[in-house]
Amino acid sequence: MLRNTYAVINQKGGVGKTTTTISLAAAAAKMKKKVLLVDLDPQANATTGCMETSDRSIKEAFDNHASFTDCIQRTSEGFDILASSYDLTASEISLMSSSLKEQTLLSGLKSLPTQYDMILIDCSPSLNILTMNALVAASNVLIPIQCEYYALEGLTKLLQTIESTRRSLGLATHSLLLLRTMYDGRNRLAIDVSSELTEHFGSALLNTVIPRNIRLAEAPSYGKSIFSYDPRCHGAMAYLALMAEMLKRAKQLEATT
Ligand SMILES: Nc1ncnc2c1ncn2[C@@H]1O[C@H](COP(=O)(O)OP(=O)(O)O)[C@@H](O)[C@H]1O
Ligand SMILES: [Mg+2]
Repeated sequence: MLRNTYAVINQKGGVGKTTTTISLAAAAAKMKKKVLLVDLDPQANATTGCMETSDRSIKEAFDNHASFTDCIQRTSEGFDILASSYDLTASEISLMSSSLKEQTLLSGLKSLPTQYDMILIDCSPSLNILTMNALVAASNVLIPIQCEYYALEGLTKLLQTIESTRRSLGLATHSLLLLRTMYDGRNRLAIDVSSELTEHFGSALLNTVIPRNIRLAEAPSYGKSIFSYDPRCHGAMAYLALMAEMLKRAKQLEATT
């Protein structure tokens, strides 16, 4: 597992995984960090959300047709990307027959010549072999949560699944980070769910909250991160604050272990 690596996971779609991954990568790049975004979702939303055209896909590396290093591209947002493509689903088959299976991404990331300060992995909403690769590679799991009625139930199931995967693969415990996304502080239900999260998950719950902000929803259609599209909006500010909080936590964790 890599300490500087975050798997952005939730089996629920539309909770803000991709928006969070792109925005955090761009925020860290703004803070002069060397960042790699890994898009493991065959829908490739993270790829199209920060690049106009991509001519390489991580699929080539999973299929052993190219090295991970050769698949890296530079975005105009100041971070590097291992892009996805619609045919990435097919790699699940080649991965299943590979002896490395769940370890492929980790060994690929270890082989890179660049020392990244942070690696962010956008996962698809299913716990497939690609997501397992993310869980093996990353020592941190970042779970975006929309504070609505079924959120807690879904979260409990997700944590159980991550735990059983972790055990069956013999991995160390992940450092867990829970993030409230699309938050509307005027919504009674959001406030209630939020206080339940505080009660049950305490320190794993990030203090920074991402507000519902239309600018965050608009940015990807221009192939831009929020920091190129509208750097002054509430959404951009929130993701900068979130990155600062994550860096602070990582430092604290390093000091105690
Ligand atoms: N904080 C936010 N405020 C408003 N819209 C958002 C916010 N975060 C995400 N969205 C929008 O919600 C939708 C789902 O977000 P996305 O990041 O694609 O979720 P996921 O990757 O979990 O499926 C997208 O249309 C996205 O633009
Ligand atoms: Mg997504």
